[in-house]
Amino acid sequence: METPIVKLDIQDLETVYEPSEDSFLLIDALEADFEKLKKAKPVMCLEIGSGSGVVITALAKALNRFFPAYFMAVDINSNACRVTKRVGQDNLVDINVLQMDLINLVKKENTFDVVIFNPPYVVTESLEVLDQRLISKTWAGGIDGREVMDMLFPHIPNILSNNGLFYLVTIKQNDPISIINVFKQWKMSGEIICDRKIRGEHLYILRFVKITL
Ligand SMILES: C[S@@+](CC[C@H](N)C(=O)[O-])C[C@H]1O[C@@H](n2cnc3c(N)ncnc32)[C@H](O)[C@@H]1O
Repeated sequence: METPIVKLDIQDLETVYEPSEDSFLLIDALEADFEKLKKAKPVMCLEIGSGSGVVITALAKALNRFFPAYFMAVDINSNACRVTKRVGQDNLVDINVLQMDLINLVKKENTFDVVIFNPPYVVTESLEVLDQRLISKTWAGGIDGREVMDMLFPHIPNILSNNGLFYLVTIKQNDPISIINVFKQWKMSGEIICDRKIRGEHLYILRFVKITL
């Protein structure tokens, strides 16, 4: 999977997450899973919290060689939305971008074959999650780093198609195994598909699918 060209100026960097080890580990995981992704023949793909757009752009570039799919990105930060659109264009892919809080405005009848989330996962005080500064939104995860991602989880079974794939970035402090257990109540199975230790952080990529009988 080709790493997209991402040009962020000083002003972008004040509020938009610069692609980092977590972004690149997620791209690596999608690349390692590419045969599975191709098999799912995705028509609708969604990234929640797209930041610079590096991940959804990498996915769109790779999948576009095989299928004409629809790529949607959402972010709470309007500057991130603008940059995601631009990075898509710079890399000759069309990303449909919407500013929203998680998936609040996604219609119930819309389902996605691939959903990706690299959430704000850093353990912080709960108050920091409410900090209105946009750059804080990139990392502040509250208690156990779980407060933002936990709000999304119950919606995943509703927006994921029956053979859809959900990819999530976590760190050790988020307790990836307990996240996998949380999804069991919605008849979804999860597994750690890769992990990497980087500068005091242990990153994990989880993949979830619906359990079909
Ligand atoms: C760790 S960054 C990841 C950015 C990008 N996906 C990447 O991997 O480089 C987290 C992103 O989630 C966005 N975000 C945080 N809270 C959000 C929310 N409630 N709804 C939508 N996006 C949110 C942030 O603005 C930020 O762009």
